[in-house]
Amino acid sequence: MKINNQIFIDACNMLPVKRTPVWIMRQAGRYLPEYREIRSKASFHTMMHTPELMAEVTLLPIKRFNLDAAIMFSDILVVPESLGMKFDLIKGIGPVFESPINNDSDIEKLNFNDDYFKNIYTGISLIRQTLNQDIALIGFAGTPWTTACYMVEGKPSKDYMKIRTLINENPKFFKLLMEKITKATIDYIDEQINSGVNAVQLFDSNASYISKDGYEKFSLPYIKKIIEHINTKKIPSIYFPKGLCNYTDLILSTNAKVIGLDWSVNIGDVKNKVNNKVALQGNLDPAVLLCPNHVIEAETSKILNSYGNSYGHIFNLGHGITPSVNPDSVEFLIKAVNKISSKIHG
Ligand code: CP3
Repeated sequence: MKINNQIFIDACNMLPVKRTPVWIMRQAGRYLPEYREIRSKASFHTMMHTPELMAEVTLLPIKRFNLDAAIMFSDILVVPESLGMKFDLIKGIGPVFESPINNDSDIEKLNFNDDYFKNIYTGISLIRQTLNQDIALIGFAGTPWTTACYMVEGKPSKDYMKIRTLINENPKFFKLLMEKITKATIDYIDEQINSGVNAVQLFDSNASYISKDGYEKFSLPYIKKIIEHINTKKIPSIYFPKGLCNYTDLILSTNAKVIGLDWSVNIGDVKNKVNNKVALQGNLDPAVLLCPNHVIEAETSKILNSYGNSYGHIFNLGHGITPSVNPDSVEFLIKAVNKISSKIHG
């Protein structure tokens, strides 16, 4: 699809914009009463795999707020499902896999089924047809490492001890696991792009649970492969390495066009370190959205001014929005980004 008027894409490409574009990680989620209403009638899987529902949920935040990008409603854990591993969302725990990976033969058994994704692709086409042309649609996947964390642990974990043991004990099989996830992810992303997404974000929420050496050996090579692939498609690749945002050399070596920053770093410092080589996305602490409006405005202003008046910034949170946020605070935030950044670029 021809896109020539998306301010989000312009910012990814470091082109001039009149104001800083904004979207919010997990913008289509439980903090929205209309999401909770749909979710009370349908399972998470039904919502992800019914194209009309997937499209409806993706568009909920777009109807409410003046956002510059929609992110398709799905989850990083569809990739393990495409490899034959089923999960359920358990209240109070999160995603729990029926049979987590315990040994070599569990890795050998993983078998990619590309049919698994077909309703997701139909959903993407539907969203792209409905969504206003000047709003970008973001596709996504997890990095192989972050995805593998869930496949091996079987559920969210505080320390990811089981997978850290596996890497050290059985590096050869761990690499096979990474190769299988990488291949499935590339296929999946390819078809997301064919179906109409305008940019792809790789979520590496568990990036920092591995040693630096381990990251370079077991995580980075696969991330590079996926990003190289997205780059050949001439759409922006966005990499979100939560907890590793200070390792700028490593992050730049991924060749991602945009780096998503968590809230632990100062965006101006990172901008100086990356020296205009990539656009930056972020990085308001999600906790700020639980504060009164004057705090939201002050913290937003700090980030926008820290980035300054050059181009290549996309405003976002430093991680996903929490379910207890009042949607009115999101509305206030978006207006604040618009107002403050228009002055900076005016
Ligand atoms: O950003 C968006 O609005 C798009 C949708 C999206 C979801 N998950 C929907 C979701 C995206 C981009 C994700 C990514 C995702 N999923 C990540 C990476 C980003 C991050 O937050 O770190 C991870 C690690 C997952 C795995 C996952 N899925 C977990 C750990 C959980 C449970 C924890 C939680 O936040 O509830 C999920 C469930 C999930 N994924 C929900 C949503 C809206 C909650 C579902 C519900 O109960 O209704």
